Amino acid sequence: MSKAKKIKTAKAKKATRKNAKSRGRRTRLPGDPGRREMLDRMIRVDHAGEYGAVRIYQGQLSVLGGSEAAPVIEHMAEQERRHLDTFNKLIPQHRVRPTALLPLWHMAGFALGAGTALLGEKAAMACTVAVEEVIDEHYAGQIEILDADGDDSDLRATIEEFRLEEVEHKDAALKHGAEDAPGYEVLSGLIKTGSRLAIWLSTRI
Ligand SMILES: [Fe+2]
Ligand SMILES: [Fe+2]
Repeated sequence: MSKAKKIKTAKAKKATRKNAKSRGRRTRLPGDPGRREMLDRMIRVDHAGEYGAVRIYQGQLSVLGGSEAAPVIEHMAEQERRHLDTFNKLIPQHRVRPTALLPLWHMAGFALGAGTALLGEKAAMACTVAVEEVIDEHYAGQIEILDADGDDSDLRATIEEFRLEEVEHKDAALKHGAEDAPGYEVLSGLIKTGSRLAIWLSTRI
């Protein structure tokens, strides 16, 4: 091959690589490492969140089991168990490594639920409002990302279904006097910050 031809071939190869790269940035294809990583992270953090939610409601019921609020909390707990069951199946299906922080969420979730319940029914409801508000935001964010990717998968439908139930939990807790809890703003702010940190960590670790 002549020197000029060699340079031309090298240039053409470079251009092809460049095109492939910019195409990859525009749309992610199934099996693409970028897309794969994105879905792994979503499933990992959602699994962690639903795991934590089950523990929060278990903690609340350990204190408020016999109270007037018990049936409402039982109903939320039941739905959280269903959410967790779904992600318990998605983890092996997608061969996702669960977060290493599950033992922490096991304890922290229960402590948060029981701790706020010890402050009273309204504080427990304030905890639910704060957590569910953050989860609603989180799921809505994931749906936005999936939609931008043109994703119309079962995962998207699952996330939207669960998001609507989390909003139901939030509304039920508001109806049960969450905002009348003593120190509502401070309590709510602390729990939201903690929940956002838990999401951030569970996405990565
Ligand atoms: Fe949930
Ligand atoms: Fe929930």
